[in-house]
Amino acid sequence: MSGAGPVAVRPELADVEPYGAPQLDVPVRLNTNETAEPPPAAFLAELGAAVTDLALHRYPDREAVALRSALAAREGLDADRVWVANGSNEVLLQLLQAYGGPGRRALGLRPGYSMYPELCRTSGTALDLVALGPDGRPDLDAVAAVAAERDPSVVLLANPNNPTGALVGPDVVRSVHDAVRGLVVVDEAYVEFAPDGASVRPLLDELPRLVVSRTFSKAFRLAGLRVGYLLGPAAVMADLRRVRLPYHLDAIAQRAAELALAHEEAFLAHRAATVAERDRVAAALAALPGVVVHPSAANFLLVETPVVDLFDRLLARGVLVRDVAAAVDRPGAVRITIGTRAEDDALLGAVTAVLAADRT
Ligand SMILES: Cc1ncc(COP(=O)(O)O)c(C=O)c1O
Repeated sequence: MSGAGPVAVRPELADVEPYGAPQLDVPVRLNTNETAEPPPAAFLAELGAAVTDLALHRYPDREAVALRSALAAREGLDADRVWVANGSNEVLLQLLQAYGGPGRRALGLRPGYSMYPELCRTSGTALDLVALGPDGRPDLDAVAAVAAERDPSVVLLANPNNPTGALVGPDVVRSVHDAVRGLVVVDEAYVEFAPDGASVRPLLDELPRLVVSRTFSKAFRLAGLRVGYLLGPAAVMADLRRVRLPYHLDAIAQRAAELALAHEEAFLAHRAATVAERDRVAAALAALPGVVVHPSAANFLLVETPVVDLFDRLLARGVLVRDVAAAVDRPGAVRITIGTRAEDDALLGAVTAVLAADRT
């Protein structure tokens, strides 16, 4: 048999556009929730030296023992209850590959993290999204009703949620865990920005089907590294070994994340300032006419404005934010990452100017 034409992609991918936030070369980039400040200089110097000591002609440690042990020590868990992967996106994909897949369903909230539908599709998992309540919190009755009908094998919650910035909290996680038979995944990509005690990590001892994912990409200022991790029952980590690629986390990333943990205090020293800056930007935006700023426990703000093409008009002024109008069903809604003071001032100036232009 011979064919002259191109090979057809899987039918369910035929209409899919490659996903990803725009990476544009503009002066102010506030669209992907990284921390604006680079990692500490001392870490970078140490990393350079550490890389020269790595045996890069050999495959990396498949079990990432040193990094998992360091994370385990930080969390007061045994290392067999810790998993690491190439960003928390890979952690989430591996969870769906292990527990979702064809014939199985996941349950998420809307609005929620935009990658959940992508990861579900890639893993062949059907996804049901339940709208958040009018107060921005999960509607537990609706979650329970959908759970009863669909019997999800995976539930995806983010604490704090993206793009709303709201915390989920332990009571909601307990209720959701009670309402389903599947694995409850709480994605804590931004939890280091939230007040102390906001993590649902303590519930791991109480809820047997709970896992908590985290990342080095946000407060740890290492988005370029691609390291995420998961805390939970050892049996889950054992199942993830069934789906992972043999060397899924490279040696440089493993070593760099270990070093970052050793420098944790320096890495996270920016948190108080970032939170203060978030509150400054939130107050300044909320003072503008017609602008609603959602309370946030993360390093970004969900902002509703009366300007339907705000995203494009900010971009025309060199400020890139995230267009979330469709995600939150509100024209003029954007999600703004907290940047440096200078970047945030540029953002505030641009929003003010666009609003003023609309009023004249
Ligand atoms: C809620 C949430 N989870 C997970 C991630 C993925 O982070 P990474 O793959 O960089 O660890 C992000 C990134 O934006 C996020 O917003």
